[in-house]
Amino acid sequence: MLVSPVLVVFTFVCSCTFQATSGQDCRSRQDLQGSLKQIQNLLSAHEAAYLQSLRNLKKKINLLQSSAAKPTTKAINSTCPKLDAPINGRKLGRSQCVSHEVHFLCDPGYELVGPETRICQEGLTWSGQQAKCRDINECASSPCQNSGTCVDEVDQFSCVCAKGWTGETCQNPVPTFFTSTTNTSSPSTASSSSSSAAAAATSTAATPGAFVRPSRCSTVQGTTHCTCEPGYTISGRDSSVCTDVDECELFHNGQAAKLCLHACVNTAGGYRCTCPAGYNTTRDGRSCKDIDECAARQNNCTKDQMCINTYGSFQCVSVTCPKIPNAAYVKTSPMRCERNPCPVDNKACSQTPTSFSYHYMSMVSNLSAPRVMFRVSALRPMGDTLRFSLLGGKLARRHFTVQRSDRLTGQLMLVSPIQGPATVEAEVEMSELERRVQLGRYITKITMFVSQYEF
Ligand SMILES: *[C@@H]1O[C@H](CO)[C@@H](O)[C@H](O)[C@H]1NC(C)=O
Ligand SMILES: *[C@@H]1O[C@H](CO)[C@@H](O)[C@H](O)[C@H]1NC(C)=O
Ligand SMILES: *[C@@H]1O[C@H](CO)[C@@H](O)[C@H](O)[C@H]1NC(C)=O
Ligand SMILES: *[C@@H]1O[C@H](CO)[C@@H](O)[C@H](O)[C@H]1NC(C)=O
Ligand SMILES: *[C@@H]1O[C@H](CO)[C@@H](O)[C@H](O)[C@H]1NC(C)=O
Repeated sequence: MLVSPVLVVFTFVCSCTFQATSGQDCRSRQDLQGSLKQIQNLLSAHEAAYLQSLRNLKKKINLLQSSAAKPTTKAINSTCPKLDAPINGRKLGRSQCVSHEVHFLCDPGYELVGPETRICQEGLTWSGQQAKCRDINECASSPCQNSGTCVDEVDQFSCVCAKGWTGETCQNPVPTFFTSTTNTSSPSTASSSSSSAAAAATSTAATPGAFVRPSRCSTVQGTTHCTCEPGYTISGRDSSVCTDVDECELFHNGQAAKLCLHACVNTAGGYRCTCPAGYNTTRDGRSCKDIDECAARQNNCTKDQMCINTYGSFQCVSVTCPKIPNAAYVKTSPMRCERNPCPVDNKACSQTPTSFSYHYMSMVSNLSAPRVMFRVSALRPMGDTLRFSLLGGKLARRHFTVQRSDRLTGQLMLVSPIQGPATVEAEVEMSELERRVQLGRYITKITMFVSQYEF
C-alpha cells in the first residue's frame, strides 16, 4: 500500500523528463516552457494525490494502533474463567473470549449430562451449567436373561447368572446332564420328591414341537408351581405349556445387548448367530471373522495371478503394463512396470511416467475418515523438488486427497467414508524436478476392495 504510490510517481517523473529533453532540439523556448508548466501541473496533481493517500494510510495505521492498544488494557477482563473438562470426558475449544464456544464430549461408556456447548457471554460468564459425564447404564435394557442380575460397568455390563445358567447374557444352560430348575416349594423335603414325581406324571401333554414344551409342575400344600426348561417360558395363562423364548427378538435393540454381529437365528430353546458367506463365526459364537481364502487355498486364482484376501471374499489380480505412445514398459516385478530408457532427445518419451507400481488393499465398508491409507516416499531424490498429486477418477477424488507428510513423503488420505461393496482406484503421482525441469514421474496405483459389511 505504501510502496505503490511512490512507484507510480517515480515512473511518471522519469518518462516525462525523458520526453521533455528529447523534444528540446526542435521546439521553441515557449513550447518548452508550456510543456514544463504542464509537467509541473501534473506533478503537483500527483503530489497532492500522493500526499492524500499518505494521509489516508496514516489514519488507517493510527486506527489500527489504537484498536490494537485497547484490548491490551481490557484483555485481563475480557475472558471468561477457565473451564475444566468433565471427569471422564474432554473439552473441545480453548478460547475463553467473549462469544467463543467450548464443547464437551464424554469418553466411551459415558453420557453427557448438561449442555454440550457453553458460550462465553458478554458478562464474562459461561452460559449453562458445567456438564458431567455419567456412566451409561448398560443394564437399562435388562440384557441378562433367565433371572440373571445385571452389573453395570464402564462401557459394558456383566451378568451374574442364576444357578444353572451361563454365557454372557446367561443365555446358555450350564452344560450338565441335569439342570436344577428353580422351584418355590416349601422346604418340606420329605414330601417334595414324591410331589414332584406326581406332578411330572400329571402334567398335561403339551403340543408337540420343539418350540413348545410341557412345563414341570409340582403341587405343594395345594398350590401348583410350574417351571420350564432353559430357553422356554410360560407365556400364556396355561402354566402347563412352556414356549420358546425368542432371544433374537428379545435383544433386537440396544447395542450393548446385541446378541449377534450379523444375524441371529432363533432356535428351540436358544439362538444362533450366523455370518455372511466368506466369514466364520468366532469362538464366542457372536461375531464374524473373515476367512482368508488366499491362505486357505480356497481360491481359484491362476498361477500368474495374485490372490488378494478381502473382507468376505478374495480377488485374483494380475498386473499388465500400460501401453502408452512413445514409451515401452517392462515388468520388473509382479507389481511394477518400468519404462525402457528413452532415446536421446525424445521429449515425448521422457514426459511419460518413469514407472508404475501397483498395490491392492482390502478395507471394510464405511471406514471412518480422515485416515492415512497409503504413503509414497522417494528413496533417493535426485532433483531439488518433489511433487505429489492425486490422479484418478471422480470416485477417487470424492474420497481421497494427497498430502505431503514430510519432505520426501506423500500420503493418500481417506477423507470421506466409502460404502461398500465397491472397488476404488486412486493414483498417486510423485514427480521429481530439478530447476523446474521434470526428471521423472512415478505413478502408484492403489486399488481398494471395499467390503459389503462394516466387518
Ligand atoms: C478486572 O480484573 C481485575 C483483576 O483481574 C479485577 O480486580 C477487576 O475488578 C476487574 N474489573 C471488572 C470490571 O470486571
Ligand atoms: C424343589 O425344591 C426342593 C427343595 O427346595 C427340591 O428338593 C425339589 O427337588 C425341587 N423340585 C424340583 C422339581 O426341582
Ligand atoms: C470356517 O468354517 C468352516 C465350516 O463352517 C470350516 O470348514 C472352516 O475350517 C472354518 N475356517 C476357519 C478358518 O476357521
Ligand atoms: C473363480 O470362481 C468363481 C466362481 O466361484 C468365478 O466367478 C470366477 O470367474 C473364477 N475365477 C477364475 C480366475 O477362474
Ligand atoms: C457409517 O458409520 C457411521 C458412524 O460410524 C454411522 O453413523 C452410519 O450409520 C454408518 N453408515 C452406514 C451406511 O452404515
